[in-house]
Amino acid sequence: MNIILLGPPGAGKGTQAKRLEDKHGLVQLSTGDMLRAERASGSELGRKVQAVMDAGQLVSDDLIIDLIAHRLDGLRAKGFILDGFPRTVPQAEALDRLLHDKGLKLDRVIEMAVDEGALIDRIAGRFSCAKCGASYHDRNHRPKAEGVCDVCGSKDFVRRADDKPETVKARLEAYRAQTAPILPYYRKMAVLRSVDGMADIDEVGRQIEAVLKGG
Ligand code: AP5
Ligand code: MG
Repeated sequence: MNIILLGPPGAGKGTQAKRLEDKHGLVQLSTGDMLRAERASGSELGRKVQAVMDAGQLVSDDLIIDLIAHRLDGLRAKGFILDGFPRTVPQAEALDRLLHDKGLKLDRVIEMAVDEGALIDRIAGRFSCAKCGASYHDRNHRPKAEGVCDVCGSKDFVRRADDKPETVKARLEAYRAQTAPILPYYRKMAVLRSVDGMADIDEVGRQIEAVLKGG
């Protein structure tokens, strides 16, 4: 099963991708996480993308397509969840070509429909495990044991540099202008389904399961 989770910043893509990894053994491919790892490693690529990410803008299509291309290899048996990619029409077209060349197919594109007004609050309250990346929220989703990651037991948590309200506004604008136009592209391919991203985390998970079972 190969799927895309599509939605604006804070829609819950990362949260649901982690659940799908646990439940179905799929592999999460988050371009945002890959870029943050490049930054943390101090690589040339990481330094190149830093200012663009911190301004809430999209990094260039060529760079992102290169980043994702070789990660699709070897995933045939497991299946993957694309989280944060594609994000522009040229990226969606490049993904089609990559999948075709690798003999892979896209099963579902799941749009996480959300009310933009709720997103700034969601993002402002977000923190993640520094070790495994599991995502939490100050109010909506705290670790079961205070200060301990539910998934890996780590006690280190981080907040993202681009989660300041003014940067989130720029990220939402980039979503509206550059990413939302890919919805009609996938509607035409008849793989697009929508779930209610405003429901609670478990309910969103149930709706995604229903889509994967053929809904
Ligand atoms: P990226 O890392 O992809 O960020 P994003 O798309 O802005 O999305 P987020 O990670 O902020 O949100 P999410 O949907 O994963 O929500 P989460 O599950 O964490 O990209 C970052 C940057 O990298 C971009 O701005 C760009 O510069 C660059 N980039 C990345 N990919 C690129 C590409 N393809 N092309 C060009 N540039 C690219 O949930 C958010 C919070 O809400 C959490 O606290 C969570 O606990 C809580 N929550 C989740 N679900 C619910 C719910 N149902 N109810 C209540 N709370 C919830
Ligand atoms: Mg994310």
